[in-house]
Amino acid sequence: MKTIHDVEVKGKKVLLRADFNVPMDAEKNITDDIRMRMVLPTITLLIEKGAKLIICSHCGRPDGERNMEFSLAPIAAHLQTLTGMKVILAEDCIGEAAEKAIHAAADKEIVLLENLRFYSGETENDPEFSRQLASLAEVYVNDAFAVSHRAHASVVGVPQLMSEKAAGLLLQKEIDYFRKSMGEPVRPLVAVVGGAKVSSKLGALTNMLDKVNKMIVGGAMANTFLKSMGINVGASKVEDDLLETAKKFVEDAAARGVKLYFPVDFVVADKFENDAVHINVTFRDIPEGWMALDIGPASSILFREALADARTIIWNGPMGAFEMDSFARGTMAVCQDIASSHALSIVGGGDSNAAVKKAGEEQNISYMSTGGGAFLYMMEGKVLPGVTALS
Ligand code: 3PG
Repeated sequence: MKTIHDVEVKGKKVLLRADFNVPMDAEKNITDDIRMRMVLPTITLLIEKGAKLIICSHCGRPDGERNMEFSLAPIAAHLQTLTGMKVILAEDCIGEAAEKAIHAAADKEIVLLENLRFYSGETENDPEFSRQLASLAEVYVNDAFAVSHRAHASVVGVPQLMSEKAAGLLLQKEIDYFRKSMGEPVRPLVAVVGGAKVSSKLGALTNMLDKVNKMIVGGAMANTFLKSMGINVGASKVEDDLLETAKKFVEDAAARGVKLYFPVDFVVADKFENDAVHINVTFRDIPEGWMALDIGPASSILFREALADARTIIWNGPMGAFEMDSFARGTMAVCQDIASSHALSIVGGGDSNAAVKKAGEEQNISYMSTGGGAFLYMMEGKVLPGVTALS
């Protein structure tokens, strides 16, 4: 896979696929611009190398409709602030409007194409849509790690049509960190996995069994494992159809010598609300009708010990309903332990990243991935379609 260091872009039109799918509030203020800031090194380098830069991205899921709720206008304005360069928003991502904007752009001015997902051809990887997009440029660069698990036109169709293509610096960095953590890790390698469902992470859990030395399982998904061991979890969220799978997973881990850690106590509540009545109980004492919404203090100590000798840590998914302050302690504790460890620490997924922010530990994590689904896809041991399309 070539990187942007390897391609000649001077005087050439370069189509840069970025993932500017950033959260915005009701007034369209961008509430977290990390995905944009992470692409700045690629933008700067391409401009320095003399490229005529055309950036494309999706934002939200407008489902193939030209719905201006999902316009990239706020992103264009913010990109201008971040880069200090003029950013021209093309009214459309293909056709005459796109061509006109590209033609009008002066040296060192950036063209941002309007939302790719205004066309269903984007998500359907339609050949004609890909052809129109590809016709806008001479070189293609993918720096959109977070969407590279989608076989969409701008991720797969376009690079397949272009002979000059390369990975941007962010995509390269994401893959490098992943290789360091999962491919050739300094051991012990500890995975911390949480979140609501076993089902959404089954592929990742299974793949990681062959790679990690220890695995810490928290969040609602731990309930399914505990129930599969015959423990009463009250009214906690459980995936009953996965009890057998969970049981087998525990056996497989034992057979491979992977140490599994589950919570030994919980903060349980009578309802799923921040102001619910809540108490700490051991895993054997969850009252009927109550639900586990966070790991308890003994679990935090157990997990801290499990993390103590880690040389590499990969974290995806919170330990509880951390978005509610009453149930955030367990996730905050794990986050602080990861942040203060001497291990290489990689965090991925929207919730885990939000937890790191809530804990104020961004500076103490080795690498925070910009990917959610893409990060999980790689944890499953699969090669991203967007990466395959570059080679
Ligand atoms: C993300 O936010 O994970 C990416 O931008 C992909 O978005 P999507 O899930 O709507 O494809």
